[in-house]
Amino acid sequence: MADPDTPALRCTGLVRRFGATTAVDGVDLTVPRGSLTALLGPSGCGKTTVLRMVAGLLTPDAGVIEIDGRVVNDAHVATPPEERNVGMVFQDYALFPHLSVVRNVAYGLTHLPRSQRLRRATEVLDLVGLAELADRFPTAMSGGQQQRVALARALAPEPDLVLLDEPFSNLDASLRAEVREEVRAILHAADQTAVFVTHDQEEALSLADRVAVMQGGRIHQLADPQTLYTDPATRFVAEFVGEADLLPGRRAGTYLVDSPIGRLATARPVEADDVTVVLRPESLTLRRQSDGHGVVTGISYFGHDQLVQVALDDGLLLRARRGPRLDLRRAERVHVAVNGPVLTFPGTPTWPEEAPLAGTTHA
Ligand SMILES: Nc1ncnc2c1ncn2[C@@H]1O[C@H](COP(=O)(O)OP(=O)(O)OP(=O)(O)O)[C@@H](O)[C@H]1O
Ligand SMILES: [Mg+2]
Repeated sequence: MADPDTPALRCTGLVRRFGATTAVDGVDLTVPRGSLTALLGPSGCGKTTVLRMVAGLLTPDAGVIEIDGRVVNDAHVATPPEERNVGMVFQDYALFPHLSVVRNVAYGLTHLPRSQRLRRATEVLDLVGLAELADRFPTAMSGGQQQRVALARALAPEPDLVLLDEPFSNLDASLRAEVREEVRAILHAADQTAVFVTHDQEEALSLADRVAVMQGGRIHQLADPQTLYTDPATRFVAEFVGEADLLPGRRAGTYLVDSPIGRLATARPVEADDVTVVLRPESLTLRRQSDGHGVVTGISYFGHDQLVQVALDDGLLLRARRGPRLDLRRAERVHVAVNGPVLTFPGTPTWPEEAPLAGTTHA
């Protein structure tokens, strides 16, 4: 058994190309034992490709993969999937429809004597709360139940690592939040190290201990959810994680920037003369004022709060999150104030229409 500080997974300099597309472009990823890590990023950024390489279903073009301190991929080694001790849960669950639930779970337990397979399968079904449904067939189960069977099947061989690719995407919104919590509790109860892939930032932030934000085959930042949100390493992370609006800014001091809504304090030293200011809706305060910065152009009311859209005089749009009281109306002029320091990134802002996200195809 390896040193307890040895990470469950360590990827170093992982690269994978498909023709002219570099799907994974130098990924470094360390997953501590017993933790839940999310790979978060837009469609096509390389998340599934990373998981498939870790599982051994795809060979890297370069880089090293270590599972529990053992090299399973480098220039000389390529351990086959069945010898990696990794469990995988696929998006479509991939259950065998002609096998009962307990037999689905027992299926991969070939290392155990036959007599022990059913016992272990029953034990894991108990862990996922499905002991009573052991003799059902998967087709006679709800999506959430099938999800738990797939998870039980992955956990049964006591893998060093479980990989889950978009595990909640087949569930409807009302069920998703519930199943997420169940899955987290099950992984935690089993003290299981896991990596899951998602393009849903809320899912990543609410479930994972650590989140790796990917774009265009690279990891922008690997951090705990709060650090990602409050101290994003790149503008992409700032925009992809949470809601953000952008304004152009001009350096006015080490921690000061001039913007269309006035001079603002910055959280970090301003890195360039021209910067992009990132504003979170919850950090803005609006006040009715005849010579204010802009005009209210829309209000989305949610009950517990509301999102008020303001068009500044140069056409730029900001969103402010406010409490439930509807005291502003469309077309009213407002003053915009920012609570607390803002984030800035070098360079003038570009908006998605001008700068499509990389990753779909890039040379
Ligand atoms: N077998 C393949 N052949 C050719 N291109 C591939 C193959 N698999 C993936 N790609 C390309 O590699 C890139 C990354 O794909 P990948 O499936 O890893 O993305 P993803 O982040 O999982 O996206 P999604 O959220 O849509 O599942 C994409 O541009 C994709 O088209
Ligand atoms: Mg994918």
